[in-house]
Amino acid sequence: NWSTEGIIDEQIAKIREQVGDAHVICGLSGGVDSAVAATLVHKAIGDQLTCVFVDHGMLRKGEAEQVKHDFVEATGIKLIAEDASDDFLTALKGVTEPERKRKIIGEKFIRTFEKSTREVMAQAGEQGGEVKFLVQGTLYPDVVESGGGDGASNIKSHHNVGGLPKDLNFKLIEPLRSLFKDEVRAIGTKLGLPDAIVWRQPFPGPGLGIRIIGEITRERLDLLRDADAIAREELTAAGLDRDIWQCPVVLLADVHSVGVQGDARTYGNPIVLRPVSSEDAMTADWSRVPYDVLSRISTRITNECRGINRVVLDVTSKPPATIEWE
Ligand code: XMP
Repeated sequence: NWSTEGIIDEQIAKIREQVGDAHVICGLSGGVDSAVAATLVHKAIGDQLTCVFVDHGMLRKGEAEQVKHDFVEATGIKLIAEDASDDFLTALKGVTEPERKRKIIGEKFIRTFEKSTREVMAQAGEQGGEVKFLVQGTLYPDVVESGGGDGASNIKSHHNVGGLPKDLNFKLIEPLRSLFKDEVRAIGTKLGLPDAIVWRQPFPGPGLGIRIIGEITRERLDLLRDADAIAREELTAAGLDRDIWQCPVVLLADVHSVGVQGDARTYGNPIVLRPVSSEDAMTADWSRVPYDVLSRISTRITNECRGINRVVLDVTSKPPATIEWE
């Protein structure tokens, strides 16, 4: 509609004027905000933009590929993808405390992003240019939540520019700063981004790392990725994506319970389903997902994910519980 087009044209003109012939860098998270922000900037200044994607190894099934292939295909944007999963997992070895996990992931993330940023700067330099700007997918609610300051809320602090060294003190481009999520989605669709990106539910920066209760290992990540993919597939097939705000799938890696599969006793781990409905994630209610959908998810996870012998449903609102388990 005209207002979506109006916003797009207005932002493109504004970005062109702001950037001139400088180079611009943008971190992609896999989420809709950074993808739409990057696409807008790309429309405005084309190859002066380079995107950076840090794969920390804790994304869900297919998400890294989605950023690396689908997004680039849809937009033609220059992308530097850094597979840093070994690095992250080594740093996280033996760590179980949630805030320590966040701190380590946040710190590593910034350092990896910094490394890629220096590559982009070197490339721009070869072309006689200079990187002067950083794109952020800050939305209006983020601006309000942080008191209009740097435009990034606390929970997302590890994706914040605040952690970059002083000599990388870029100016910010925030084309979504006056928009709400639904407007961002409308713009993303108008710009031709795939539904899988436009309608992706919120996913925390530390990813599956804070959905494994216990130490994060590659095996546990693979197991959780499979269980999560099944839950997402069934919720999507049931047409529930737009009713559910998000559905964390959590692996209780340090909890074991007895089960029976075939003729044998098992001693496996439980998976928790945490579907919630919410407006803004500040408060939430547990979603009344139909029993037959829950049943299909449970049957498939216990059949297809080796080592999982129990699926439980979280029926707590926020408050008192948070949405994530960590
Ligand atoms: P909680 O668990 O606090 O989550 O009720 C509220 C919303 O924030 C997301 N979340 C995070 N996002 N980094 C992020 O970028 C984090 O460390 C983090 N922790 C929680 C969560 O998925 C929910 O949407």
